[in-house]
Amino acid sequence: MFRQLLPTDVIVVVATGEMWCEPLHPSEEPFVERAVPKRGREFRAGRACARKGLSALGITDFALCPAPDRSPCWPADVLGSITHRAGLCAAAVCRRSRIVGLGIDVERNVALDPGVIRLVCTEGERAELDGLGSATQWATLVFSAKESIYKSYYPATRTFLDFHDVEVVLFPDCGEFVGHLVTVKAASLEGRREFHGRYACTEEHVFTAVAVE
Ligand SMILES: CC(C)(COP(=O)(O)OP(=O)(O)OC[C@H]1O[C@@H](n2cnc3c(N)ncnc32)[C@H](O)[C@@H]1OP(=O)(O)O)[C@@H](O)C(=O)NCCC(=O)NCCS
Repeated sequence: MFRQLLPTDVIVVVATGEMWCEPLHPSEEPFVERAVPKRGREFRAGRACARKGLSALGITDFALCPAPDRSPCWPADVLGSITHRAGLCAAAVCRRSRIVGLGIDVERNVALDPGVIRLVCTEGERAELDGLGSATQWATLVFSAKESIYKSYYPATRTFLDFHDVEVVLFPDCGEFVGHLVTVKAASLEGRREFHGRYACTEEHVFTAVAVE
């Protein structure tokens, strides 16, 4: 699903069954040696997808270790993003050139709790979602869009964003969204304060992707 949401120069790898137990690079092992099995499996699947994506860019034998803040330390001229949820795992990678930020996210396609919606969506977004009908389901999409935006934004800025720092407008007719950085003091991403993304939904999952060009 991510393939159709991202530009063609982004490599997308979705985990197949055996990738969830693929061996890690020796330097990656310590990061999950004491993890519960579920966490070990998702970490392995993410690294296996990333490894395959990096090898398509000609980069082999690279240990994708997490920084202390948990963000993966990609090779210097590479942008990448990993997501895992509900039996699905994927990675997207590309060379840093035309694209300066890359984020993907998958969520379970279930309605969000009203309390969580208030945490995730601004007042303006909640009014917008009410207008679309089944607001709780649309809120899951806004949540995922914000996760993708954050993943595209953080590696370049090293700045934490709260959910209300970004306001998302959905365009259901074309499966697109735009996130606006509404907190004035939040750093821009190389001058950009608008993040364009695409989304798709299946019965089980919501997929969002952002490639900042
Ligand atoms: C980091 C975060 C975005 C991950 O999203 P998630 O839906 O919980 O989980 P996913 O499975 O989709 O993604 C997890 C992967 O994201 C990557 N990741 C973690 N921190 C990251 C960061 N700061 N920047 C980019 N990628 C990050 C990692 O590869 C991680 O997988 P791994 O630990 O196996 O390597 C989320 O946990 C988080 O901290 N959110 C709070 C900030 C936020 O989203 N603000 C919204 C502002 S608009």
